Amino acid sequence: MASFVISPIKIDISLLRPYFSLISCAILQNFLLNPHFPNSRMPTSTIPTKQQILSSNKEAEPLLSFFDDLSDEEKMKLWKQLSTLNLSDARQWFIDSEEQRAPASAEDLKPIPHSHHFNQSEMHQAVLDELWNKGMDAIARGEVCAIVLAGGQATRLGSSQPKGTIPLGINAAYGDSLLGIQAAKIALLQALAGERDHQDPGKIHWAVMTSPGTEEATREHVQKLAHHHGFDFNEQITIFSQDEIAAYDENGDFLLGSKGSVVAAPNGNGGLYSAISAHLPRLRAKGIKYFHVYCVDNILCKVADPHFIGFAIANEADVATKCVPKQKGELVGSVCLDKGKPRVVEYSELGEKLAQQKTSDGKFLFGAGSIANHFFTMDFMDRVCSPSSRLPYHRAHKKISYVDKNGEIVKPEKPNGIKLEQFIFDVFELSERFFIWEVARNEEFSPLKNHQSVGTDCLSTCQRDLSNVNKMWLERAGANVTASKQVYLLSLVSFNGENLQELRHREISDEAIESDHTINKFFVH
Ligand code: UD1
Repeated sequence: MASFVISPIKIDISLLRPYFSLISCAILQNFLLNPHFPNSRMPTSTIPTKQQILSSNKEAEPLLSFFDDLSDEEKMKLWKQLSTLNLSDARQWFIDSEEQRAPASAEDLKPIPHSHHFNQSEMHQAVLDELWNKGMDAIARGEVCAIVLAGGQATRLGSSQPKGTIPLGINAAYGDSLLGIQAAKIALLQALAGERDHQDPGKIHWAVMTSPGTEEATREHVQKLAHHHGFDFNEQITIFSQDEIAAYDENGDFLLGSKGSVVAAPNGNGGLYSAISAHLPRLRAKGIKYFHVYCVDNILCKVADPHFIGFAIANEADVATKCVPKQKGELVGSVCLDKGKPRVVEYSELGEKLAQQKTSDGKFLFGAGSIANHFFTMDFMDRVCSPSSRLPYHRAHKKISYVDKNGEIVKPEKPNGIKLEQFIFDVFELSERFFIWEVARNEEFSPLKNHQSVGTDCLSTCQRDLSNVNKMWLERAGANVTASKQVYLLSLVSFNGENLQELRHREISDEAIESDHTINKFFVH
């Protein structure tokens, strides 16, 4: 194994490999952007020649076919993009991804044992209250960081705006967006923590993972939300961007999206670990001990859910994940054991036969459906963000528009290329204490994935499901809901159905929501 010695410490070079790309990118960026960089042979304003680009990036050669046709500005842009893409490693990632995990095999897969799979709906209220308090204590002590994964391109939704910022047409929270609802939930939990008997109510840190394509609009939106809720943007919020990776044709060659740009996409939600690693020391210094990581797209997500956090802390979990019982044919991953280690098998990897297999009581054997909602301890994050841990890349075959040899744009009708993605749950196998927290789908999972025309997991189903949860909470609180329209509680009113006692024995009609001031203060109207 290659190694070099800096007396007296011996360093294994292979451990540093995943960082080489970051280091070389940083050096090159410095070289490009800083005219005072000591080794800079080229000030920022000087337009690069082909040779200069190739001297540091020989893999780029086929991507420079139209270089001479580009304007100076386009040349600079292409050079900058190439400096961030790390093409020589990307070539190897493509090769490695061919050997990614073999399809799941029946002998290796087992469900997570009952001793590590808890169903919230089967727990006594007293136990749930205890877990809630434990989670709230952690929030009150400022130990919780909620991480939202908001770097996806929302291709299925077909929106040019980042998913988290799209208007929902509900107005349940300031911003009327998924991120807006999430910010309100954070504000509400902080207020609830503050109402308890603590000297310091603490704060939930909010970390927002974006990607180069979503960063600007997301940052702007989150800034407004933070201002509205009185969050200290610099202290309480961390916005960071994941890396992009070049896309490939079926032979593993890179593609031009235009004459002056390479087709590239975010490196999957598993890009979280490399992207957040630089922020971990600061978060640790702030006292963060626990992370709740969730997808931006789930309108019912209970951000920093005290029950879930309390459950994980009580069980001394290093990793826990929320599941819902999988429905027939549903496109969600299954949480299970693979050769004794926890893993999520994606719907595309499980195969029809295993997906249909049932237990004696008629449930799906691999029915623990992942809703991509995870708990990690800081110690676990430190471990998986270390240089020695590197996530595999998974291949996704996609339709990728590209520029052909003649400089014409080709828009394929069927998949013609490959995008590589890291998956956030590929670190589960490193967990030493892994738990499932099963929750009710109708209360916790309704993602915005698709365009409205698809009719499932789209805007109207999100609206419907939020209204249904709110009606259920009202009925549980003893209100009589007769409203004919959808009913939306303001997100700042209730996290989990609490704070609705005032509505006990009250009729929640369309008219009351509109004009009864003792009622309408709770609702969007
Ligand atoms: C994801 C889960 C799947 C789960 C399903 C539930 C992964 C790999 N898969 O699948 O197990 O059943 O959600 O809804 O987690 N994202 C980034 N950067 C990226 C790609 C995605 O931040 O490069 C974010 C998205 O913004 C989104 C989340 O990750 O918030 C999920 O991404 P998506 O592509 O929608 O994953 P699914 O295929 O739906």
